[in-house]
Amino acid sequence: MKPVRILFVCLGNICRSPLAEGVLRALAAQKGLASQISVDSAGTGGWHIGDPPDRRSVAVARRHGIDISGLRGRKVSKVDFEAFDLILGMDRENVRTLGQIAPAGLEGKIDLFLGYACGRDQDVPDPYYDGPEAFERLYQMLEAGCSSLLDRLEERAS
Ligand code: 4NP
Repeated sequence: MKPVRILFVCLGNICRSPLAEGVLRALAAQKGLASQISVDSAGTGGWHIGDPPDRRSVAVARRHGIDISGLRGRKVSKVDFEAFDLILGMDRENVRTLGQIAPAGLEGKIDLFLGYACGRDQDVPDPYYDGPEAFERLYQMLEAGCSSLLDRLEERAS
């Protein structure tokens, strides 16, 4: 079976979406599903192209045994809508922006991450201006969401 190709998108591609990418990859590996998914992340903004993830995201990932230090920021582009099956925005603003970029007919690949993963119409809030505790909350939210996402993808495949 071809892997499901998932792109996580946030604003800067340095806090939320690279952490989501690392968490989903790690959970998939733990569950023996690594060959069933491919995952990447991108930002709707271009301020952090080529940058490593925010050190607070790197630190919280490391505390949970995940290394995201090698990831680099990039901006989402039209070709991503061909290259990925699912494009999941971290918040509703990301989803709106993705809708403006999507080539005609490919808007159906876009969804809100927690909406798709667990049926909750809820944003993953931007932690950029918050303290370190916000990054632990972010991690917990992403871990729960990615675990539900894997369950949903397993159901979809069976
Ligand atoms: P992210 O957080 O969207 O979770 O990566 C942000 C990082 C940087 C900026 C905004 C949000 N910024 O404006 O530079």
